[in-house]
Amino acid sequence: MRIIFIGFGVVGQSLARIFQKKKKTLTQLYGIDPQTVAVVDSKGAAIDSKGLDLDEILKMKDSNKSVSEHREVGNPQKTGIDVIREMDAEVMFETTPTNILDSSKGIINIESALKAGINVVTTNKGPLARAMPSLMEMAAYNEVELRFSGTVGGGTPFLKLAKQCLQGDRIITLKGILNGTTNYILTQMADEQISMEKALTDAQQLGYAESDPTNDLDGIDAAVKVVILANWIMNRSVSIDNVEIEGIRQVSQKDIKEAKKAREVIKLLGSVDEELSVKPQRISEKDALNVKNTLNAVSFTTEHSGTITLTGKGAGGVETASAALRDLIDIKNNLSIK
Ligand SMILES: NC(=O)c1ccc[n+]([C@@H]2O[C@H](COP(=O)([O-])OP(=O)(O)OC[C@H]3O[C@@H](n4cnc5c(N)ncnc54)[C@H](OP(=O)(O)O)[C@@H]3O)[C@@H](O)[C@H]2O)c1
Repeated sequence: MRIIFIGFGVVGQSLARIFQKKKKTLTQLYGIDPQTVAVVDSKGAAIDSKGLDLDEILKMKDSNKSVSEHREVGNPQKTGIDVIREMDAEVMFETTPTNILDSSKGIINIESALKAGINVVTTNKGPLARAMPSLMEMAAYNEVELRFSGTVGGGTPFLKLAKQCLQGDRIITLKGILNGTTNYILTQMADEQISMEKALTDAQQLGYAESDPTNDLDGIDAAVKVVILANWIMNRSVSIDNVEIEGIRQVSQKDIKEAKKAREVIKLLGSVDEELSVKPQRISEKDALNVKNTLNAVSFTTEHSGTITLTGKGAGGVETASAALRDLIDIKNNLSIK
């Protein structure tokens, strides 16, 4: 299976390491022999139609070099679009940085691959936030797959549980904790009785929050995940503009203490019901969604099976790469069926 990586940071490299480590298992168990024909980073590409030496490419990134500096197959002039147009491949992994306000670069990468008949696995939420219905339509039209398991819940299979394990049933509503950073902050504010500023600084020091925490604190990251869940699981045709969004900036110690007196906690909940929303809400301490720190949890209310809650780690490079690998295995299985 010929593979292109567009973006080769934490997630891309984690996936490449899994390929190297699990070579035998991938072939024996899943019939997948990944052959990476191109890797693109922000400074150019390394391209070899006979297959790149991934160990060598990983070593270059470990030494803070661009893949375009490869002495034989590096090319600083080539962009992702060039590679997609020029290379024969079955699957492209799109793992460039997420930009919710301007996701045009990611959208162009994904559209170009789909139009070229290349299956796409992305962990980049930006294109899905803005253009998920049209991208899904484009994939169907071109008879290729567009997969994005790593965009919601890291390695925890929220999308797969809902789409495959609950086949034959119908998910009527869902709600959940979809952002680990804000869940950590709210947990620390409640358990340690500290201010939001202090909890945020702690989260940044622990690597749970980015230096610019806007997307997390303002509920935007959670809203993108609401969009992905609504489109993929509940067949809505929506973008981030359809989500009512309120972040956690206004949550005070006073609010948290009042909730505690009533044996409740405040959580940032994303919901897909009649309306799509992200907002801080009080829930019972005994609610299955009362998970702590960076954990994510989603409760699916179904037509026949009641409410099912899945809990797990929401992010992390290796976890997200493992979700992308799941997508690759699904694609391989579907290719074999076709
Ligand atoms: N890390 C996680 O836990 C996690 C979880 C869920 C989703 N995600 C999403 O997955 C994606 C990748 O995350 P990450 O942690 O791997 O990010 P990262 O470490 O910042 O890596 C981003 C990669 O994209 C490359 N890049 C930047 N601009 C590019 C361009 N124009 N063309 C081609 N490549 C370009 C970068 O190049 P250089 O190497 O030259 O800088 C780098 O290799 C992001 O969208 C992120 O939001 C990440």
